[in-house]
Amino acid sequence: MTTAEIIDGRRLADEVRGTVRNAVRNLKDGHQLDLGLAVVLVGDDAASAVYVRNKGKACEDSGIRSFEHRLPADVREEDVLTLIAGLNADDRVHGILVQLPLPPQISAEAVIDAIDPAKDVDGFHIINTGRLAIGTAGAMVPCTPGGCLIMIKKHVADLAGQRALVLGRSNIVGKPIAQLLLAENCTVTMAHSKTRDLADECRRADILVAAVGRPRMVAGDWIKPGATVIDVGINRVETEDGGTKLVGDVDFNAAAEVAGAVTPVPGGVGPMTIACLLRNTVIAACRQKGIEPPAMG
Ligand SMILES: NC(=O)c1ccc[n+]([C@@H]2O[C@H](COP(=O)([O-])OP(=O)(O)OC[C@H]3O[C@@H](n4cnc5c(N)ncnc54)[C@H](OP(=O)(O)O)[C@@H]3O)[C@@H](O)[C@H]2O)c1
Repeated sequence: MTTAEIIDGRRLADEVRGTVRNAVRNLKDGHQLDLGLAVVLVGDDAASAVYVRNKGKACEDSGIRSFEHRLPADVREEDVLTLIAGLNADDRVHGILVQLPLPPQISAEAVIDAIDPAKDVDGFHIINTGRLAIGTAGAMVPCTPGGCLIMIKKHVADLAGQRALVLGRSNIVGKPIAQLLLAENCTVTMAHSKTRDLADECRRADILVAAVGRPRMVAGDWIKPGATVIDVGINRVETEDGGTKLVGDVDFNAAAEVAGAVTPVPGGVGPMTIACLLRNTVIAACRQKGIEPPAMG
């Protein structure tokens, strides 16, 4: 029996996108500022192409101009860096996103380092990760972690003192989520592939964020009754009829019987990631022009 509240990521993302749309209109009318986001796609990875197309559509829907740059899979690293330098200098471009992963001849680190931190709407540049880690103002918060925090705050009235368990320690998801929850005064534990007694660690958590990339790994009896469960995982699995479908890192049906609130996959964290990308583009543009960013979402 489903007792948990199902956190509707699509509805929340629509709310954020609505506030972004208003902000974009106000910046255009009040400051003659036309927002632009550049998205760089290298190679022909099918999933990446879908993500880039969706980001382009989301930009248009919000009134943000989208500049798409598609480069061949065998492009040289120096050519990517030259493109980034051009985008850094381009006044029409307020945000730059390079779709990962990149082909093996190109260092993702070198490319991310080359992006102007002020235009780094993914929040992956070392300056932004450093600002997030030490808690200074002006960090660009990575989109997926930022979306997770918005969802958690809608469901947990007071985060101070809550036990949070972040399962997964990647630089782009696990670590920034942990930083954000720590900044909200949660007591944060990070778990990973070497963690002992993982189920016990999870069971202690009032807030459980799963970002491992292992289909349905978090079982129902790993979840504390009433906990808020955020499932970041996106895993494609085969179905009995020979097709495929997307599932998260959490056994959703089991979680829905024990958690207080849980995000579905799809329709949970994914839509919030795109909404937060648009939000970050507004924030980046405002900071570049010395305008106070509006509250969004
Ligand atoms: N919804 C979205 O918008 C969105 C955005 C980004 C990512 N994702 C999804 O989120 C998931 C995680 O992404 P990521 O980029 O963070 O992945 P990643 O870089 O592969 O990191 C996975 C993390 O999970 C840990 N892990 C793996 N197997 C484990 C196990 N059996 N027990 C405990 N920990 C384990 C790893 O531990 P070690 O560090 O010890 O190896 C690592 O820290 C993926 O499914 C990805 O597709 C979704």
